[in-house]
Amino acid sequence: MPGHQAWSVEAAASLLRTLPPAERLILPALQHVQHAFGWIPDEAVDLIAAELNVSRAEVVGVLTYYHDLRQSPPPDVHLQVCVAEACQSVGSRQLVSDLEAAYGVPLGERADGVEMSAVYCLGNCALGPAAMVSGRLLGRCDVERIRDAVARAQEVRA
Ligand code: FES
Repeated sequence: MPGHQAWSVEAAASLLRTLPPAERLILPALQHVQHAFGWIPDEAVDLIAAELNVSRAEVVGVLTYYHDLRQSPPPDVHLQVCVAEACQSVGSRQLVSDLEAAYGVPLGERADGVEMSAVYCLGNCALGPAAMVSGRLLGRCDVERIRDAVARAQEVRA
């Protein structure tokens, strides 16, 4: 994965051993692992618990509380569709249905390296329905516009 190193127990253990004192807490440790590897494998939970002298359950509790912490490798393209009120009023629910039909998977799942998820406001309310494709904000979205943006993001990764 571009931007992240491949998962390695040794590299993760080394990373955790060298955490600055102020960051020897569960959430910062999880964030460091995700920043380095792009996600937090189950093995990392054990490493963090051992390194910080906390229980595995405590680490899992934090990991599962924060939705931005990934327990699986990141997708090639992350498509986020806003379903907050302003975007709903201009058709985001229908857009989601159309995208689910176009990609053949429901929100939260992956097809061909594209993971689609719902978000609640992207700060682009005046230009709804809004979406974000791998960090690129889009407004006045329809299926075609989003599929074009996804195709461009896939080209960049290729
Ligand atoms: S409600 Fe969709 S961007 Fe704000």
